[in-house]
Amino acid sequence: MDDKRVIVALDFPDAEAALAMAARLDPALCRVKVGKELFVAAGPAVVERLQASGFEVFLDLKFHDIPNTVAGACRAAARLGVWMLNVHAGGGSAMMRAAREAVASFPKPPLLIGVTVLTSLSDAELGEIGFAGSAADNVGRLARLAAASGLDGVVCSAEEAAMLRETLGTGFVSVTPGIRLPGDAKGDQSRVVTPEDAVRRGAHYLVIGRPVTQSADPSATLQSIMRSLGSGKVPS
Ligand code: C5P
Repeated sequence: MDDKRVIVALDFPDAEAALAMAARLDPALCRVKVGKELFVAAGPAVVERLQASGFEVFLDLKFHDIPNTVAGACRAAARLGVWMLNVHAGGGSAMMRAAREAVASFPKPPLLIGVTVLTSLSDAELGEIGFAGSAADNVGRLARLAAASGLDGVVCSAEEAAMLRETLGTGFVSVTPGIRLPGDAKGDQSRVVTPEDAVRRGAHYLVIGRPVTQSADPSATLQSIMRSLGSGKVPS
């Protein structure tokens, strides 16, 4: 299993702030995530600069469009050399298969991850947009569709990771946000788990933003997370 389980979310408004944070982190210990805010502000150049500093990048743009358009976006992301990227499973099986085919011919294709149900949606809101059943039912159904369409895994909560491990096996990757360190404020996350707990429940990769980026010493915080996970690579 991959030792670099932590993906630090670089949720910053510009390249300078993101690169300043990256400079305080060790690319041998973590990966980084570039989301919509940073990408819209700073574009592919910030991804290239992070990669030039040795970081593997999760491009979190959650593509959702017709298959041809999503395939083109995935191909562009693969050409940029990102390590992981994601698409909405709700775009359907043809869209997900097009995404898979678009990256398949690259020598080192990025991990292709599906977004199932946004965790910000309540069961009532799911009903409003026409989804029957609970969030968990929909996560399970969309994750099975993502797996059948050739995706490598999904973004999900730690609870869902445990359920997906049962139904789809340990090879299907789960990427889990909503991580908080013991004693941290929850912030705007409603359900949170510790890094250890998330891995115990089956998460392969942990997306961690503010607990690392807003700590007084991001590097020390990252190392203590790694120690709690028992990673062999962490200096003691
Ligand atoms: O700062 P924090 O640790 O809450 O950051 C979590 C990151 O994971 C953010 O970039 C957020 O957009 C992302 N995310 C999330 N919940 C999801 C999907 C992504 O918190 N369901």
